[in-house]
Amino acid sequence: MEPWSVILQQYKQEPYPLKEDFGFVALPTQELQHFFVQAEEFLSGKKYWLSMGSGDGRVENIAARIYHKEVTAIELSQELITIAETKTAQIIQAIKNPKGRIQFVHGNYVPVALRKERIPPHFNFLHGKDPYRKIKFSSFDLVYSYPWPSQIETVLECFRTCAKKEALLLLYGKYDFDAKEYGLRELKRWDKGIILEKN
Ligand SMILES: C[S@@+](CC[C@H](N)C(=O)[O-])C[C@H]1O[C@@H](n2cnc3c(N)ncnc32)[C@H](O)[C@@H]1O
Repeated sequence: MEPWSVILQQYKQEPYPLKEDFGFVALPTQELQHFFVQAEEFLSGKKYWLSMGSGDGRVENIAARIYHKEVTAIELSQELITIAETKTAQIIQAIKNPKGRIQFVHGNYVPVALRKERIPPHFNFLHGKDPYRKIKFSSFDLVYSYPWPSQIETVLECFRTCAKKEALLLLYGKYDFDAKEYGLRELKRWDKGIILEKN
């Protein structure tokens, strides 16, 4: 089967019975398909991706299986990591000659030095393993995230302070901030997404 058909079939909108909620939302996979097609012009040459808050792994499978990227995905929920790994194994089985690579890492994507109390506190997590003992934020070409509004400042701060020069930050969602205030360059803005570059 074609990779897109397998991914669309694997990721439907069924809710997961999670014991702990860290703000997971299952995006409609077709909406993500449209989003990535829109962003395609920025993706070539950006091989190493970091995903901040990977949920059930749908974005990571799109990045790996469709765009052949090497993805490191950090997620606070062990339950979602298990779901993402199971779905990824099923997708690999269903696709002939699957491309790309995904590594799911359990932990908090906010580096320990940047974990601060913030207002409002919703979905602002200060606990969780430090994933950066094993991986280096500055080794990634592109960082993807779909944060809650209360997490956007944190995500921008992580990217601004830890990403390498010319790395891209691809955010799904509606945004009205001014990238210049964060020392970043806005490359493009869509109805539901934005792509920024570290100067
Ligand atoms: C809105 S969902 C987005 C899921 C997925 N990236 C997507 O685009 O479909 C946000 C995800 O981030 C995770 N999360 C929230 N805060 C986190 C943190 N500080 N560290 C790691 N994961 C976090 C949540 O558990 C949830 O799965």
